[in-house]
Amino acid sequence: MSNGRSQLWRRRSSTTWIRAGLILFVVIFVWVQVNFLDFGTSQSPYSEINDSQAAILSMVPAVLHKFLSPQPKNFTVIGPNGTYSNIGYFKTILNISEIKRNIAQYNQQQLVYNEDTFGPLQNDSIVIVVQIHDRITYLRHLIVSLAQARDISQALIVFSHDYYDEEINSLVQSIDFCKIIQIFYPFSIQTHPREFPGEDPADCPRDIKKEKALQNKCNNALYPDLYGHYREAKFTQTKHHWWWKVNHVFNQLEATRNHTGLVLFLEEDHYVAQDFIHVLKLMEKTCREACRHCNILSLGTYLKTYNYYGDSKKKEALRALKEQSVKQLGQIQPSWTFQVLPSLYQHSQKVEITPWISSKHNMGMAFNRSTWNEIVKCAAYFCKYDDYNWDWSLQHISQNCLKQKLHAMVARGPRVFHIGECGVHHKKNNCASTSVISKVQQVLKSAKRHLYPDYLILTYTTVLKKSKLRKGNGGWGDHRDHKLCMSMTIR
Ligand SMILES: *[C@@H]1O[C@H](CO)[C@@H](O)[C@H](O)[C@H]1NC(C)=O
Ligand SMILES: *[C@@H]1O[C@H](CO)[C@@H](O)[C@H](O)[C@H]1NC(C)=O
Ligand SMILES: *[C@@H]1O[C@H](CO)[C@@H](O)[C@H](O)[C@H]1NC(C)=O
Ligand SMILES: *[C@@H]1O[C@H](CO)[C@@H](O)[C@H](O)[C@H]1NC(C)=O
Ligand SMILES: *[C@@H]1O[C@H](CO)[C@@H](O)[C@H](O)[C@H]1NC(C)=O
Ligand SMILES: *[C@@H]1O[C@H](CO)[C@@H](O)[C@H](O)[C@H]1NC(C)=O
Ligand SMILES: *[C@@H]1O[C@H](CO)[C@@H](O)[C@H](O)[C@H]1NC(C)=O
Repeated sequence: MSNGRSQLWRRRSSTTWIRAGLILFVVIFVWVQVNFLDFGTSQSPYSEINDSQAAILSMVPAVLHKFLSPQPKNFTVIGPNGTYSNIGYFKTILNISEIKRNIAQYNQQQLVYNEDTFGPLQNDSIVIVVQIHDRITYLRHLIVSLAQARDISQALIVFSHDYYDEEINSLVQSIDFCKIIQIFYPFSIQTHPREFPGEDPADCPRDIKKEKALQNKCNNALYPDLYGHYREAKFTQTKHHWWWKVNHVFNQLEATRNHTGLVLFLEEDHYVAQDFIHVLKLMEKTCREACRHCNILSLGTYLKTYNYYGDSKKKEALRALKEQSVKQLGQIQPSWTFQVLPSLYQHSQKVEITPWISSKHNMGMAFNRSTWNEIVKCAAYFCKYDDYNWDWSLQHISQNCLKQKLHAMVARGPRVFHIGECGVHHKKNNCASTSVISKVQQVLKSAKRHLYPDYLILTYTTVLKKSKLRKGNGGWGDHRDHKLCMSMTIR
């Protein structure tokens, strides 16, 4: 949801020797890249990827196939001719008041599934919070990847939903490899279709001029965003949900409110490497020993940006790829390319110590309660900042409010991958595509013997400084959003 936005950072010239060291590092880095990698499109080991459903399935252990296929419930109807026929999977259609009732019940009961089997949460266990909307195909693959992770049986996965769907519920409840719990964001658009936080018919249209809006006396006439646009409900939900769920997990949910260990945040279109818990724990330990000021961990990064750095050959490849997809899809798809994927095994042990940058380090983020306690003190900076992205809002907190800015330890060889080619709201024409899943499977297969490192190699990135005070991306000018967000804050 945040890839593709531009960065406004540049290096600060602190001390000359750091700069010299950095230049040397960059030179070596580029040299290594140029000499050991061949990104020519024709030679890529992944250009011949077979991404058919059968091929994807063949990479998944048979015992996990159940998570990938809808489990048909036998629902029979009696035909007029008196015979029975099976109409297969039947989706229950609930009305809004039923959905609201169910959501309230889930949030109140807080049932932890599989606790009998796996025992209560330990303070050094990992809590994994997955934010889910409605993209069930990606979610299936995320679950398959989690199922294959070592030590997953000690984790608790909190599924935080903003869309109520029986099929998603039964998928999540079919998980049998660790403890799980479901929570439901109670102010969703689904349950508020014609009122705030959904779209009230009396709200101002996005593009209306302010004078016109004032004349019309539409609800939010006084509060366009800093680009002059009025609120679009669907773009506000992700940030509200993010804030609600983190508050909820740290302070309300009985199962997690006393937890002192790490909480890892994933989204429905992520995919984890089997050693992600191992690496996370190793990073946590390394932080304690070697980076006392690190307060946030990140298991993923958007490879495209750093891997194309300084290599004209790769730029060419990217350009060619772009042109191709422009022709094929009518739009540019800069995110995943086979050229950049294989880097996991070159960097499997490397972590980077760096100031936290929203657009680069928002994937597979983990922090503990002490970091959260600092963040939540700055609630107003999050809730009143005119930017609908939770990650940019978090960055705003880091830059402008935190005594100790967010400083990250980032896995250079990612342990979390982004498999969603379509955002929650940015639908493209090939949203059902699973070709990225296939590529990630291949990458992980070829990196297999480089996983589970015994120790980490640290690299340091010098202090980055923003070039000027950044305006937000807008979409968050409505005072009702500020108020709702503040009201969900628990301090
Ligand atoms: C892709 O893989 C599947 C299963 O392994 C196989 O049946 C199919 O023939 C392959 N297709 C191509 C084009 O190689
Ligand atoms: C559904 O019906 C089919 C055939 O009628 C049967 O083979 C299958 O076992 C049934 N599945 C369940 C879950 O009852
Ligand atoms: C009986 O009715 C069912 C459902 O309407 C239909 O699918 C089936 O083909 C019919 N069978 C016969 C023998 O007409
Ligand atoms: C929703 O469904 C329930 C039970 O089916 C029914 O009692 C209720 O009247 C319905 N509510 C609305 C708003 O349709
Ligand atoms: C976890 O609990 C154990 C025993 O209850 C305690 O010794 C340890 O300090 C705790 N660890 C953390 C990180 O709170
Ligand atoms: C969490 O802490 C509170 C207050 O200390 C206590 O009442 C509650 O039982 C604890 N919950 C769990 C699950 O340990
Ligand atoms: C939480 O993380 C901080 C670093 O942000 C660390 O200093 C602290 O020891 C951690 N707390 C626990 C209980 O692990």
